[in-house]
Amino acid sequence: MENQNGFLGRRGFLQQASVATAGLLAGSLSDVLGTTMGKRKVAMVGTGHRGTGMWGSPVVKEFGDIIDFVGLCDINRGRAETAKKMLGVNCPVYTDFDKMMQDTKPDLLIVTTVDATHDKFIIRGMELGADIITEKPMTTDEGKCQAILDAEKRTGKKVTVTFNYRYSPHRQKIYELLRAGAIGKVTSVDFHWYLDTRHGADYFRRWHRLRENSGSLWVHKASHHFDLLNWWLESEPESVYAQASLEHYGKNGQQRGTNCRTCSHKTSCKFYWDMTKDNRLMSLYAQNEQYDGYLRDGCVFKEDINIFDKMAATIHYANGVNVSYSLTTYSPYEGYRIAFNGTGGRLEAWIKESGKMVIEHYDELMLSKNFGDVEYIKIPQAEGHGGGDALLRDKIFRNPHTPDTYRQTAGSRDGAMAILVGIGARKSVETGLPVKISALTDLKPKAVKS
Ligand SMILES: NC(=O)c1ccc[n+]([C@@H]2O[C@H](COP(=O)([O-])OP(=O)(O)OC[C@H]3O[C@@H](n4cnc5c(N)ncnc54)[C@H](O)[C@@H]3O)[C@@H](O)[C@H]2O)c1
Repeated sequence: MENQNGFLGRRGFLQQASVATAGLLAGSLSDVLGTTMGKRKVAMVGTGHRGTGMWGSPVVKEFGDIIDFVGLCDINRGRAETAKKMLGVNCPVYTDFDKMMQDTKPDLLIVTTVDATHDKFIIRGMELGADIITEKPMTTDEGKCQAILDAEKRTGKKVTVTFNYRYSPHRQKIYELLRAGAIGKVTSVDFHWYLDTRHGADYFRRWHRLRENSGSLWVHKASHHFDLLNWWLESEPESVYAQASLEHYGKNGQQRGTNCRTCSHKTSCKFYWDMTKDNRLMSLYAQNEQYDGYLRDGCVFKEDINIFDKMAATIHYANGVNVSYSLTTYSPYEGYRIAFNGTGGRLEAWIKESGKMVIEHYDELMLSKNFGDVEYIKIPQAEGHGGGDALLRDKIFRNPHTPDTYRQTAGSRDGAMAILVGIGARKSVETGLPVKISALTDLKPKAVKS
């Protein structure tokens, strides 16, 4: 039943869907109707790690007074039921998305499925009456992107893309300093992101390893970074030229297995990862392998891996800024270096997120003025993507109407502009030519955000 993507094929999904045609897998309609008086009704599709960990348990805990979960849906029935237990909610569980939407009529739909499937839930969710909160990337190719933009216009519903990276305090400080003209007019940016041999390698273990699922790391991962650039620079991207290759993981490995738990190279492989030590992952994935065969601890040297592990791009912005960007996925530590070059100076950050170096409990920015002084600015760190996750949840559920001082709320246009750089980069690698962002959808890049 499992397809090459590690998920159920159409036949498998139909078989599961028919199990669900009888309706609910757990709970009842009266659960839904009885618990929602006066609260916003929220449903979720995709009850994996991010769904449960970012949008499930914390939302129930922090906003239980104003929202009610009315439905959980996943193609993997076991995982949806595990999620229900983790969240401690009383709502029904579905494998049939339309049925969930029709039964529960949520005000808000949270989309946390595999990237390449976001579009169908975003579009259908709006058609069935919900506003959408979708994880990044909004989708994985330009056709799906255009279809989402069209559906939003057609239905009058709203798509929010959860760019949590915008909310971390040090990135907000960068935004503030740039807006205040601390380095004059920004003319170029050097931006280099390093994923380590633990977290970086993890993308090659999972569904992300196939571009048909993730759009490649150009879209899945780098769209986070492209969104930061679009936001910091207050401009949309105009063109991208890129190069990339797969030189370390996948077919490049000297030995391989199916997954770490069953591997015969456990003692010799540096990438051996013992998932059995993580109870949460064991209950979400290992205990639900029977439903879809998905292996969370897949081998990083699988021959089918078709995403790049080394990427570089030159991006030109509508306001004239040039960006030099790279992403490496097998570094000894995780973090990034960024420098904004301006007519009046330079603003730099070197962020270490993991590794054997001393990790400080603050992030530091270095602001150097041309013909002037150097200032070091320390910003305290917080848990959960630098503190961004909790602030983002607050904005969405508790304070949707408070002023958005730092313009951190992102809609479908922001979601589109972030992925279009990645999609353009992917195309550029294929063709060897630069790609104009305006050629991908009907959006025309603007120099200043309206
Ligand atoms: N913003 C961030 O920092 C951040 C961090 C991690 C993940 N994410 C995003 O969250 C999303 C989920 O990632 P994850 O790490 O939780 O992955 P995951 O594999 O743990 O969860 C994905 C879930 O979607 C389900 N699914 C797949 N196809 C489906 C379909 N057709 N119908 C219904 N359910 C389906 C899977 O069974 C799985 O339970 C991704 O889009 C990812 O990019 C964002």
